[in-house]
Amino acid sequence: MAAPRVLAVINQKGGAGKTTLAMNLAAGLARQAPTVLVDLDPQASALQWAGAGTQAFAAPVKQLAGRWDAASLRRGFKAYAHVVLDCPPSLDSVASSQALRAADLALVPVLPSPVDLWASLRLVQEVDAARRDNPGLRAWLVLNQIEQRSALSAAMQHALAEFGLPLLRAVVRRRAVYRAAALDGVSVYQMGARGQAAADEIQSIIEELPAS
Ligand SMILES: Nc1ncnc2c1ncn2[C@@H]1O[C@H](COP(=O)(O)OP(=O)(O)OP(=O)(O)O)[C@@H](O)[C@H]1O
Ligand SMILES: [Mg+2]
Repeated sequence: MAAPRVLAVINQKGGAGKTTLAMNLAAGLARQAPTVLVDLDPQASALQWAGAGTQAFAAPVKQLAGRWDAASLRRGFKAYAHVVLDCPPSLDSVASSQALRAADLALVPVLPSPVDLWASLRLVQEVDAARRDNPGLRAWLVLNQIEQRSALSAAMQHALAEFGLPLLRAVVRRRAVYRAAALDGVSVYQMGARGQAAADEIQSIIEELPAS
C-alpha cells in the first residue's frame, strides 16, 4: 500500500481553529479513504471531541506514545490513506516540529484579524526550517471564522499578502454548527441539513488540496 498522505493542522496561536478544522477534514477525508486523526496536543481536545455524545466519530482519533518521527509515523499508520495531525498551540513542542517534518501538507487556520496573523508569523520561519529536512512540505493559510457577508479589511488583506504563506481560496465561515458538532462528538457531515453549508466548505478545502 502507498504511504499515507500526512496533513498537519498547525498554528502556535491558541484558539485559531486547529482542532475544528482537523476533525472536520478528517471526517471529510474518511468519506473517501481510510483516515486517522492523530491528536498531538496534550490538552487532548480532539480525543475529548471524539468521545463526546453517543455516536462514534467518523475517523479513529489516536495519540502517540513515546518518541516518534516522520518514518515511524508513516510506518505506524501505513494502513491509512490520510493521517491528519492536530497540533498543540505551541511551536516549541517536539510534536509541532516533528509534525512539520512529517507532513506533506500543512494547513494554518487563522482568524481574520491582522493581530492574530502577526501572532503566527514565527510559523513561516518554522516551515522554512522544516523544509531543510522535508523539502516537499507545502503549506497554506486557511481563513477561519469568517463572518457571513463581511469583506476582509484592507489591513487584513495587506497582512495576508505579506505573510509568506499562500492563502487557500476556500474559507471556513463562523457557524454555530461547528460548535454544536463538537458538543455532539461528530463532524459537520453528521449534522444533517443544519451542517450542509459547513460540510460544503470543508469539502471545498479538501478539493483544493493537491491529491498527493
Ligand atoms: N468556523 C467556526 N465557527 C464557529 N466556531 C468556531 C469555528 N472554528 C472554531 N470555532 C470555535 O472556536 C473555539 C476554538 O476552536 P478550536 O478549539 O478548533 O481552536 P484550536 O486552534 O484547536 O485551539 P487550541 O489552540 O486551544 O488547540 C472552539 O470553541 C470552536 O468550537
Ligand atoms: Mg486544538
